[in-house]
Amino acid sequence: MTQRTLVLVKPDGVMRQLSGTVIQAFEQKGLKLVGLKMMVMERALAEQHYAEHQGKSFFPGMVDFIVSGPIVAMVLEGPGAIKAVRDLMGATNPQDAAPGTIRGSLAVDITRNVVHGSDSPESASREIGLFFRPEELVSYVRPVDGWLSE
Ligand code: TYD
Ligand code: MG
Repeated sequence: MTQRTLVLVKPDGVMRQLSGTVIQAFEQKGLKLVGLKMMVMERALAEQHYAEHQGKSFFPGMVDFIVSGPIVAMVLEGPGAIKAVRDLMGATNPQDAAPGTIRGSLAVDITRNVVHGSDSPESASREIGLFFRPEELVSYVRPVDGWLSE
């Protein structure tokens, strides 16, 4: 099933010049980049984005971190894109993330864990709407799209 999902390269990833590495991991998987932008998140956007975690002990520190510098936001599309992104990201705590995953390869700290990916179809559609207007998402056909649909 074709899905769209939101990915963020978090401020640690941008500052460590890993934006390209993260995008490349998803492109190499075969996911299609359909939206891309850079910004410094407003605190209100961060609190909405992470609304499910309001009240948890790590929430204030996590929000401080996510607004502390630029992020790269993208929307990726493909068959099973939501799980594909989560699998490539690895576990939330980089110390538990499998070798070869983005977090397993690139991070050691649970807060500075390089990347965000939506965790369900409901989260994906909500989060995409927080970061992108519909007209900012680009529909296009790649040669490989024909192969996949055969
Ligand atoms: P969560 O949605 O549980 O993880 P994921 O990013 O894998 O979907 O948590 C959101 C972010 O909050 C997580 O990427 C890093 C931060 N966080 C902490 O700093 N400490 C924690 O104990 C947890 C669970 C998350
Ligand atoms: Mg999450």
